[in-house]
Amino acid sequence: MSHEHHGSRRVGQVKEVTSLSNPIVKDIKALSDKKHRDETKSFMAEGLKLVIDALELGFEIRTLVYAKNVKDKPQVVQCATKTVARGGLVLEVSEKVLSSITRRDNPQMVVGIFTQRWTDIRDLKPAANETYVALDRVRDPGNLGTIIRTADAAGASGVILVGETTDPYSMETVRATMGSVFALPLVKASPADFLAWKKGAGVSVVATHLAGAVDYRTIDYKKKPVVLLMGNEQSGLPEALAREADALARIPQAGRADSLNLAIATGIMLFEARRHLLTLEDRA
Ligand code: SAM
Ligand code: CO
Repeated sequence: MSHEHHGSRRVGQVKEVTSLSNPIVKDIKALSDKKHRDETKSFMAEGLKLVIDALELGFEIRTLVYAKNVKDKPQVVQCATKTVARGGLVLEVSEKVLSSITRRDNPQMVVGIFTQRWTDIRDLKPAANETYVALDRVRDPGNLGTIIRTADAAGASGVILVGETTDPYSMETVRATMGSVFALPLVKASPADFLAWKKGAGVSVVATHLAGAVDYRTIDYKKKPVVLLMGNEQSGLPEALAREADALARIPQAGRADSLNLAIATGIMLFEARRHLLTLEDRA
């Protein structure tokens, strides 16, 4: 499908939009398709808190959209001022337009369109006390969002998406991260690139596996930076990745379930690997 992408670069404008067929609105709505997020290297963050987080963390804002009835809120005014100062477009819209953009009946009153940010795996230089999460072909947007949020909360240093994965910049995943998507470097890598990086990175790759030989609580997470490698929801970790790991870990289970949900397993591993680094006292 060939069409133009409109209106991301009109410096300093505030436009009022009430029509659902407005071309700028149509472009924003198209961001629910991965193809359009990829083409434009942009994504949507919903809600004032997320927009403020993204601006604070230096994400490039292309368009700020808010409902007319919140236009005088000081934080909204601040966001609009920043957007204009950074060369973005500001849209004042009806609630109907916001509903249609976010595909929700009770939409957030503020939405931001930002440029995606990716880190090249070759730029990841793990240091002492750092922990990374590597996800093999993660499929579920909610799982990925939960994992990014949990990795951030555990003090991890980045999330590596290995192979074909769900998009961290989808609306569902961004929502589920509660803002943590802005806090952590995100990396995309093929299995080959991941393994090549691993060779020179000085890390200990701890792969989780239902056939894991080692109880996850017996592993030394202190001697090197750790990469926790997690398997795909349906098929688990492929042999080609599992055999390159420095340890294969299993979380002992009781009961009927034959495995844990991927995000839960990742959470358990993260907090075990960082147990010695996390305290209630000095929150980083
Ligand atoms: N049917 C898949 C299999 O046989 O591997 C189940 C995959 S499980 C839902 C998704 C991922 O979560 C696994 O690849 C592993 O990384 C992690 N996982 C789940 N339960 C685990 C456990 N008890 N020990 C270690 N890892 C686990
Ligand atoms: Co397009």
